Amino acid sequence: MAAKLDLHSTLKMKSGYSIPVLGYGVYQTPAAVAHDVTHHAILSGYRHVDSATVYRNEAPSAAGMLATPVPRDQLFYTSKVEPRNLSYAGAKASVAATLQQTGLGYIDLYLLHAPYGGREARLGAWRALVESVAEGKVRSIGVSNYGVHHLEELEQWQKQQPTPQAAGILSINQIELHPWLARPDIVTWCRARSIHLEAYSPLVRSTKMSDPLLLPLAAKHGKTPAQILLRWGLQQGFVVLPKSVTHARIEQNADIFDFELDEGDMRGLETGVYEPCTWNPTTAPLSE
Ligand SMILES: NC(=O)c1ccc[n+]([C@@H]2O[C@H](COP(=O)([O-])OP(=O)(O)OC[C@H]3O[C@@H](n4cnc5c(N)ncnc54)[C@H](OP(=O)(O)O)[C@@H]3O)[C@@H](O)[C@H]2O)c1
Repeated sequence: MAAKLDLHSTLKMKSGYSIPVLGYGVYQTPAAVAHDVTHHAILSGYRHVDSATVYRNEAPSAAGMLATPVPRDQLFYTSKVEPRNLSYAGAKASVAATLQQTGLGYIDLYLLHAPYGGREARLGAWRALVESVAEGKVRSIGVSNYGVHHLEELEQWQKQQPTPQAAGILSINQIELHPWLARPDIVTWCRARSIHLEAYSPLVRSTKMSDPLLLPLAAKHGKTPAQILLRWGLQQGFVVLPKSVTHARIEQNADIFDFELDEGDMRGLETGVYEPCTWNPTTAPLSE
């Protein structure tokens, strides 16, 4: 069970930087509303926004954060290299575009969005992220949608590098995680190396809000099913990344620090099933 958490709790990453445990996701958030909703999220207490080059809303999302009175050094922004554009040059261009579009000065976390494109593409893109850290453009780096075989490929490559600086530090793996997709294989591998996990689609895309596993827990704690799901992720030690374009839900999803699921509650959410609610690149073969 995680130590007592609050709205501004963070986890220390292997890079040495800290990441807020609550992040605000902006996938499928239209660019036209991104400024308003990220602004509202920061005013509601979030300090962390999860975007990506493919979300096509980086400029308004960052502008919404920067329009609040919260200083830049208390804000945390993530972007990702386009999944179908992994390469050394593609990752370099991606970091440059994010810096230019957001005006944030540096990016807190940059991820490889998905392990597609083959070994050379993955490792070339990783090398570009390592260089972006050395150049001061990015603070921490990681991957997303990596299965154990992708992670092992990267780890083997890192071991072959002449210096730790050349290998880079893998701080994060961002994957779909919720009670219907607990992924013990990937989670165990990452935990053994102190690589933090970010839970994407932590609300199972709103498909389980009437589920009989969640409703009794919601009644017991006087919370909503969405809040139970987010609490499950936090108590697994994950960073959770709920998305909403609805002001009241943005606030509700941050109101998760005044209760705890007990051991029995957590056990009741062990479904043992494997049900991704979105794409699943973690199982892609290394050749894909
Ligand atoms: N790396 C990757 O490949 C990847 C993939 C997917 C997602 N992500 C990240 O993870 C974030 C979240 O994942 P997601 O967008 O797939 O799904 P999600 O957060 O699991 O679910 C979002 C859906 O839940 C609804 N919702 C939000 N709060 C709710 C509440 N309190 N009660 C009931 N419904 C609620 C939202 O509706 P409204 O918006 O209409 O309120 C939206 O339809 C993304 O925005 C992105 O940052 C990353």
